Amino acid sequence: MPLVTSTEMFKKAYDGGYAIGAFNVNNMEIVQGITEAARDLSAPLILQVSKGARAYANHTYLVKLVEAAVIECPNIPIVLHLDHGPDFETCKSCIDGGFTSVMIDASGKPFAENIEITKKVVEYAHDHGVVVEAELGTLAGIEDDVKVKSEDSSYTHPEEVEEFVSKSGCDSLAIAIGTSHGAYKFKPGTKPQLRFDVLEEVSRRLPGFPIVLHGSSSVPKEFVEKINKFGGNMPGAVGVPEDQLRHAAELSVCKINIDSDLRLAMTACIREHFAEAPSDFDPRQYLKPARQAIKDMVSHKIVDVLGCDHKA
Ligand code: G3H
Ligand code: 13P
Ligand code: ZN
Repeated sequence: MPLVTSTEMFKKAYDGGYAIGAFNVNNMEIVQGITEAARDLSAPLILQVSKGARAYANHTYLVKLVEAAVIECPNIPIVLHLDHGPDFETCKSCIDGGFTSVMIDASGKPFAENIEITKKVVEYAHDHGVVVEAELGTLAGIEDDVKVKSEDSSYTHPEEVEEFVSKSGCDSLAIAIGTSHGAYKFKPGTKPQLRFDVLEEVSRRLPGFPIVLHGSSSVPKEFVEKINKFGGNMPGAVGVPEDQLRHAAELSVCKINIDSDLRLAMTACIREHFAEAPSDFDPRQYLKPARQAIKDMVSHKIVDVLGCDHKA
């Protein structure tokens, strides 16, 4: 089947109490690892591309890699999504260039300006059969070259969501309930806790509307430990507990964004490989197990966190 939008996927996920995994792609091995996992588990899938990914790999290469995955995985619906679109022009370029979904992230702008920019993207996207994710509230962490310090982040204000969605016309909404980007989400030694009260109030105000969670890597200890054991230096890396993500998926969260965990799996695998086989220099020797590590990580997310296996 050709690339699809997320409309049907989100409806089924909302009603079924599960979420769709949105995984970031930057090269061929990452695309292959993710899509092979989803194909084997018959799981609907969102592949997302950031501004940084487009700068690294080039728009055309990424679109063609995803189109190849669509041919290789005829049994599952796949969405090609722009992650954190910074402005109208970037969203337009992706809409014109084959994406089926875009995010306009104007969450750092004042409320009225966020609505105005989002509405402009929605009008253009909907005219071209593309859906739009917007964001209200600010996550801490690093996205491309934008760093948000935790003291500058803010939870979504539930009392703003109805006006935002009705005036902007967005198709899904990313909210801030305590997740953040990257591998250092919570202070080591403290108990991570997402604000389910905020999520529940947002859902009460937007019944049936798909909610998105960014910054949803769990930063598994075993991978951080392996990275540190084989020459890395990632002290104090902490992620979102997987049981809290599972609970969010049972509520109104229909899309869960995961990037850092794939980076950790790949890096841990490659560091271990070089430590144990220092004479290897053929990239296939270390990229093959790295691709498998991504596949294993995504399979685990699909079954144990998202609950979206056999939902295609
Ligand atoms: O939200 C950020 C994603 O992990 C993408 O990261 O901007 O470094 O490609 P990136
Ligand atoms: P993580 O850094 O937690 O993987 O979040 C990724 C993300 O939100 C991409 O938009
Ligand atoms: Zn994000």
